[in-house]
Amino acid sequence: MQFKSLFFSVFIGAMLLIGAILLNNKRPAVEKNQPSSQAVRATGKCAQCHRRETPAVVHQFEMSRHAKKGITCLDCHRVVEGQTSKAHRGFTITTQITSKNCAQCHKTEHEQFMRSRHAAPAWAAVAGRKAFTPKQLAFAEKYHKGAVDRAANKLAQLEGPGAITKGCEGCHNIGKPNKDGSIGTCTQCHSRHSTSVALARHPETCGQCHMGPDHSQLEIFKESKHGALFAAQKNLMKLHARPKTLTTKDMSVPTCATCHMSGLEGMKVTHDVTERLSWYLFAPVSKKRPGYQRNQHEMKELCKKCHTTSHVERFYKEAEVVVHSTNQKVKEERKIIQRLRKKGLLTPQPFDEPIEFLHFDFWHYYGRTAKHAAFMGGADFVQWHGNYELLHLFVKIKKMAQQIEQNAARKKSNAALKKTNKP
Ligand code: HEC
Ligand code: HEC
Ligand code: HEC
Ligand code: HEC
Ligand code: HEC
Ligand code: HEC
Ligand code: HEC
Ligand code: HEC
Repeated sequence: MQFKSLFFSVFIGAMLLIGAILLNNKRPAVEKNQPSSQAVRATGKCAQCHRRETPAVVHQFEMSRHAKKGITCLDCHRVVEGQTSKAHRGFTITTQITSKNCAQCHKTEHEQFMRSRHAAPAWAAVAGRKAFTPKQLAFAEKYHKGAVDRAANKLAQLEGPGAITKGCEGCHNIGKPNKDGSIGTCTQCHSRHSTSVALARHPETCGQCHMGPDHSQLEIFKESKHGALFAAQKNLMKLHARPKTLTTKDMSVPTCATCHMSGLEGMKVTHDVTERLSWYLFAPVSKKRPGYQRNQHEMKELCKKCHTTSHVERFYKEAEVVVHSTNQKVKEERKIIQRLRKKGLLTPQPFDEPIEFLHFDFWHYYGRTAKHAAFMGGADFVQWHGNYELLHLFVKIKKMAQQIEQNAARKKSNAALKKTNKP
C-alpha cells in the first residue's frame, strides 16, 4: 500500500515535469527568452509580463538611459497626486502619465518647459483660456502677455470638432492642461519609453509639428547648409552625448535642438525654446520681443561656437532686412482689407469670403515663410515660397478688392436708377 502510493506520487510528479517541458517548448520564443538578470532588476515584474503583452514597450525602455540607471516601469507609472489610480495585476498604476510624473525627478527641465510657449500658450492658441485655472493663466501671462488669456480660435471653430481633435490638437496638445493640474507632455520630443535625447535632437522630431506652409521650419532646415551637412554626416555624430557636456566634436553641425535648446560648449541647456528668440516672427507684423537684446545675444553666442563674429553679425543684419521689408508688405496689404471693411463691403464674420482666405495666406503662409527662412538659411523659401508669392498675391488681392468696390458701386447706382425710374 505504502509502496503503491509512493510509486503513484513519483509517476505523477514525473508526468507533470514532462508536461511542463512539452508545454514550455510550445511557447513562442518571446516567452521562452527570459529577460536578463540586469533587465529584471531594472524593470521588475512589469517587464517580465509585458515582454509577452507589449514587447515593443519593453524593447524601447531597455534602450533608455532610465533602464541603465535603474529607473523602473513603476517609477513613471506610479500614481501622483491628482491622478486616477487603477488596480493592475497586483500593482496600482496611473491611467494617464503627464509632465507631472516626469517632474518628480526632472524639476529644472519641467520649470523651463512651463515657462516656454510649448506649455499653456500652445494650447490656448487653439482652445483659448477656458480650460485653464486662474493660477495657470496668471503664470503663463507673466511670461507671455496675451498668449493665453484669449478666446478660442475662430478658424478652428469653423472647421469643427473632428478637425480640431485630429488636426490642431495633434500638435498643440504639447501644452494641453491635464486633469492632475499639470500642463502638457514631455513625450512629444522624448517618446514614452526610449526617453531619448538623440531622438529629441533629430530635426524630424521637431518637424512632427514644425512643418507645412505656415511654419515650414523642417523644410527650411533641410534646404539649409546645416540640413544638408546633417543628413550627410549624422552617422558620424554623437547624438546621444550628455547634454551638460555637449561639444562641437559631438555635433559639429546644428539641428533645431542645438540652436533652440542645447547647452553647446558650456552654454546652458534650456527647455524654454523662447529664450533665444528676438522677434515675434509668427505675427502678421513682426515686433521685437521684450527680451530682444538678451535673447539675440544668447543665440549669437551659440552661432559663435562654430562661426566668426562677423559672419554671424552679417547673417542677422540680412535677416532683419527681410523682417522689415515683409512687415512693410503686410502693412500695405492690410490697408486694402481695412479699406473694404471701413466701407462695409465685407461681412463681420471671418472666413466667409474668398478674399479673406487670400488675406490670411498673405501673412500666415508667405510672410511667415520668408521671415523664418531668412533666419534659418532657406534661400528658396525666402524667395519662391515667400517673396514671389507675396508679390503675386498682392496683385491678386488688389484686383479683387477693386472688383468688390466696382460691384458695390454698380449696385448702388442701379438701386439709385431704380428709385428715380419709379413712377
Ligand atoms: C501578469 C502580467 C502583467 C503584469 C505583471 C503587468 N501587466 Fe500591465 N498589462 C498586462 C496586460 C495583459 C495588459 C493589457 C494589454 C492589452 O490590452 O493588449 C496590460 C496593460 C498595461 C497598460 C495599459 C493600460 C491601459 O488601460 O491602457 C499599462 C500602462 C501597463 N500595463 C503597465 C504595467 C506596469 C507599469 C506594470 C508593473 C507595475 C504592469 N503593467 C504589470 C499584463 C501585465
Ligand atoms: C519614463 C517614464 C516611463 C517608464 C520608465 C515606463 N513608461 Fe510606460 N508609459 C509612459 C508614458 C508617458 C505612457 C503613455 C501614457 C498615456 O498615454 O497617458 C506609457 C504607456 C505605457 C503602456 C501603454 C502603451 C500603449 O501604446 O498602449 C504600457 C503597456 C506601458 N507604458 C508599460 C510600461 C512598462 C512595462 C514599462 C517598463 C518596462 C514602462 N511602461 C516604463 C512612461 C513610462
Ligand atoms: C524616478 C525618477 C525619474 C522619473 C519619474 C523620470 N526620470 Fe528621466 N531620468 C532619471 C534619471 C535618474 C536619469 C539619468 C540621469 C543621469 O544619468 O544623469 C534620467 C534621464 C532622463 C533623460 C536623459 C536621457 C539621456 O539619454 O541622456 C531624459 C530625456 C529623461 N530622463 C526624460 C524623462 C521623461 C520624459 C520622464 C517622464 C515621462 C522621466 N524622465 C521620468 C529619473 C527619472
Ligand atoms: C502640424 C502641426 C500643427 C497643426 C495641425 C496646427 N498647428 Fe498651430 N502651430 C503649430 C506650430 C509648430 C506653431 C508655431 C509656429 C511658429 O512659431 O513659427 C503654431 C502656431 C499657431 C498659432 C500662432 C501662435 C500663437 O500663440 O498665437 C496659432 C494661433 C495656431 N497655431 C493655431 C492653430 C489652429 C487653430 C489649428 C487648427 C485649425 C492649428 N494651429 C493647427 C503647429 C500646428
Ligand atoms: C507636438 C508638437 C511640437 C513639437 C514636437 C515641437 N514643437 Fe515647437 N511648437 C509647437 C507649437 C504648437 C508651438 C507654438 C506655440 C504658440 O506660440 O502658441 C511651438 C513653438 C515653438 C517655438 C517658438 C516659441 C516662441 O516663443 O515663439 C520654437 C523655437 C520651437 N517650438 C522649437 C521646437 C523645437 C526645437 C522642437 C524639437 C526639439 C519642437 N519645437 C518640437 C509644437 C511643437
Ligand atoms: C521640444 C522638445 C522637448 C520637450 C517638449 C521636452 N524635451 Fe527634454 N530635451 C529635449 C532636447 C532637445 C534635449 C537635449 C538638449 C541638448 O541637445 O543638449 C532634452 C534633454 C532633456 C534631459 C536631459 C537634460 C540634461 O541636462 O542631461 C532631460 C532630463 C529632459 N530633457 C527631460 C524633459 C522633461 C521632464 C520634459 C517635460 C517637462 C521634457 N524634457 C520636454 C527636448 C524636449
Ligand atoms: C542654425 C541655428 C538654427 C537651426 C538649426 C534652426 N533654427 Fe529655428 N531659428 C533660428 C533663429 C536664429 C531664429 C530667429 C530668432 C529670432 O527671432 O531672433 C529661429 C526661429 C525659429 C522659430 C520661430 C519662432 C517665431 O517667432 O515664429 C521656430 C518655431 C523655429 N526656429 C523652430 C526651428 C525648428 C523646428 C528647426 C529645425 C527643423 C529649427 N528651428 C532649426 C535658428 C535656428
Ligand atoms: C555646431 C556648429 C554650428 C552652429 C551652432 C551653427 N553653425 Fe552655421 N554652419 C556650421 C557648419 C559646419 C557649416 C558648413 C560650413 C562649410 O561649408 O564648411 C555651417 C554653415 C552656415 C552657413 C552657410 C555658409 C555658407 O556660406 O555656405 C550659414 C549662413 C550659417 N552656418 C549660419 C549660422 C548661424 C546664423 C548660426 C546661429 C543661429 C549657426 N550657423 C550656427 C556649423 C554651425
